[in-house]
Amino acid sequence: MLSVFAALISLLPALAVAQVNASYPAPPTLSTYYTIPVSPVAFTPIPTPSDPPPIPGIFPSAVPSNPPPVSPDPQVVPDFGPAWEIALQKAAAKVANFTLEEKVNVTTGVYPTTRCVGNIAPVYPIDGRGWPGLCLMDSPLGVRYADFVTAFPAGINTAATWNRAMMRLRGLYMGQEFVGKGVNVQLGPMMNMGKNAQGGRNWEGFGGDPFLAGEAAYETILGMQQGGVQGCAKHYINNEQEFDRTQESNTVDDRTEHEIYAHPFMRSVMAGVASVMCSYDLINGTYACENDKTLNQILKMEFGFQGYVMSDWAATHSTMGATAGLDMTQPGDTNFGTNSSYFGGSLTAFVENGTISMDRLNDMATRIIAGWYLLGQDSPTFPPTNFNAFNITDPATNSHVDVMDDHYTIVREIGAASTILLKNVENALPLQGIRSLVMVGSDAGPDLRGPNGYADRGGDDGVLAMGWGSGSDNFPWLISPLEAIQARARLDHTLVSWFLEDFDYAGVAAAVTGQQLAIVFVNSDSGEGYIDVDGNEGDRRNLTAWHGGDELILTVAANNNNTIVVTHSVGPLIIEPWIDHPNITAVLWAGIPGQEVGNSLVDILYGAWTPSGRLPYTIARNASDYPSQLVLGGYPQDILSINYTQGLFIDYRWFDAMDITPRYEFGFGMSYTTFEYSNLSISAVPNYDSYDTELMSNWEAGLPNPLGIGSTTALWLHTPLYVVSFQVTNTGSYYGGEIPQLYVHFPASAAEPPSVLKGFTNLNLAPGETQTATITLNRYDLSIWDVVAQGWVKPNGTITFTVGASSRDGRLYGTIPA
Ligand code: BGC
Repeated sequence: MLSVFAALISLLPALAVAQVNASYPAPPTLSTYYTIPVSPVAFTPIPTPSDPPPIPGIFPSAVPSNPPPVSPDPQVVPDFGPAWEIALQKAAAKVANFTLEEKVNVTTGVYPTTRCVGNIAPVYPIDGRGWPGLCLMDSPLGVRYADFVTAFPAGINTAATWNRAMMRLRGLYMGQEFVGKGVNVQLGPMMNMGKNAQGGRNWEGFGGDPFLAGEAAYETILGMQQGGVQGCAKHYINNEQEFDRTQESNTVDDRTEHEIYAHPFMRSVMAGVASVMCSYDLINGTYACENDKTLNQILKMEFGFQGYVMSDWAATHSTMGATAGLDMTQPGDTNFGTNSSYFGGSLTAFVENGTISMDRLNDMATRIIAGWYLLGQDSPTFPPTNFNAFNITDPATNSHVDVMDDHYTIVREIGAASTILLKNVENALPLQGIRSLVMVGSDAGPDLRGPNGYADRGGDDGVLAMGWGSGSDNFPWLISPLEAIQARARLDHTLVSWFLEDFDYAGVAAAVTGQQLAIVFVNSDSGEGYIDVDGNEGDRRNLTAWHGGDELILTVAANNNNTIVVTHSVGPLIIEPWIDHPNITAVLWAGIPGQEVGNSLVDILYGAWTPSGRLPYTIARNASDYPSQLVLGGYPQDILSINYTQGLFIDYRWFDAMDITPRYEFGFGMSYTTFEYSNLSISAVPNYDSYDTELMSNWEAGLPNPLGIGSTTALWLHTPLYVVSFQVTNTGSYYGGEIPQLYVHFPASAAEPPSVLKGFTNLNLAPGETQTATITLNRYDLSIWDVVAQGWVKPNGTITFTVGASSRDGRLYGTIPA
């Protein structure tokens, strides 16, 4: 029963939002919105960008099933153009045989008589000229509403690994699981930028820096699509808070949009992503799903995106949205259960009366079916959908196909690799010779209702390993710290006890007194706005630990001088009340690592994995230090105006520019060992591309190049230009991984933040070992978006860079050759 109810609730985002402010505080700045006039619109198709002929090893012509191999410093720029061209041709041939109604049906979701959260009905007969339709399923971390699936680490943990191989492998395994369940389209990854630390869905995404998020998106999509599922990059764009997500207009300048918010979607397009989901909000007064600027101009034209744009669920606002670039409406109805659609019959009528051209409809249907061909889903071996998202217990429709394989192994590994060591006094960690330990806090143990006791994970009891909402899936099991630590402690004959009552401070004090080690667990949860957990309607109400976490930690620390804090949090917390407490000997920032949460923690605690996770966002000293806050208030019918006044200065970029000292900076994370950096050099990469020499010399001279189809993803802009190389030595006594990060400092003329992440890599080193690392820079990395010229230009002046261990821990300094 849970699933039907949960599925229906999840499809009602707008209703929940309307109840937020019963007392209706004074409206903040309001906005009006633009709707596209209903009058005939001509259509010119946007062709596949023309790139140089494939150059093996540099610009290889790639197909999703065979992407370039993962590398800690990717130098290869895959060109999916030829694969798209073939897929588009096949799709066009198929669409040519469809009737007007059939073409429209390809663009219009059908709901709720089907098995997936989004469905496109077949065109019959399937065996002949027809087509089997599509099953679209959440989420970005696993198959939602299904059984025998893996609960992978969330996006935020994946980003915290800063490890491309793990990003890729997680994507691959997810792709395989979706395909095994007969899903055509996985609704992920999610790349909103965590502009507000309290944003409810930040954990679904990859943190507060566009470069890191872009690389995570790129690797995730290459992996997913290698696994055979179509990726769906979401939510495009500026969907940065849950409050009033359907009624907020984001005022974003063109440069900020290009350099920050659109960048991860650009990287998704470069990974060959099949689809993009337009979001609920408005951008500069126009809804995202009818926004010609963001859909037609930036995504399809500048990025050269060849696939299709689907609406978020009920985010379509007009039939005319089709002329702005929307290709598919989901779940189909204007709003849930209305039984009428902006596409469907309306689209048919608009095409019949010439308001929307048949060419545009052909383009819509062709793009959609091309995604299916691109991923080889026309193969007779592609499994039929074998579960029912709306009724998981129905024996007639759920075959309980086990797609988990041994994916728990990568879940455990990513869980460990994404755990960030923030404090470690006198080598409190890794644990050695501990004779007695006590675990404190409900977050150490299982939830009394079981791992899936709350619909869409909308509750917080027991260990937190996932946020809530459509970004969740079902846990097959959930290994809590309580179980995992006991199993490990047994090997050393360590005495283990626990006290899981969060608010019984006298009991806590008694339980931790006299123990050699106390590990206290706290968490903080958030999710999608249609579920309210303890007054948190999606977004977090504050940045403090839940269940009285601060008081709990202070009580433990007051009574035990070897207190280790473990947090399971969807994002940053303000930790000032306790972080400097002298009895707190270590802090582990574990995020929400999925089903193996306890095992991953054991690997870190006992040193089976030397911590290598790095913060994908800044931990501030005060919530008010962050450059952006949630915009609340207003009446249900209001369109809130959210002004992106911080522009390019999100997360660490703001702290650096305003000289605000964070508690822990972006990119920070300690290790059990130590690393030294040396021997920096930078050299130019030979140019193999003789096709784009004029564009390259314009760029070199600081001149803009013409805006054109695919001009932002053009290979000349992304081909390696410089290789920065340096050496890293493990100077400590543990085998471990280091994550060197490269930050560029643009000249003052560029008006950029002081430091901007443009590269990272990862190394694993034995004690005493030295390895040479490389980080490649391309022209795009060294460019800024020129709003007047509408192009990527090299700023005037000297560009310098730092290679180091975080955004504030520079070790080596260099200059880009003039
Ligand atoms: C969410 C999307 C999700 C869709 C389908 C929407 O409410 O914003 O992320 O994919 O529902 O469940």
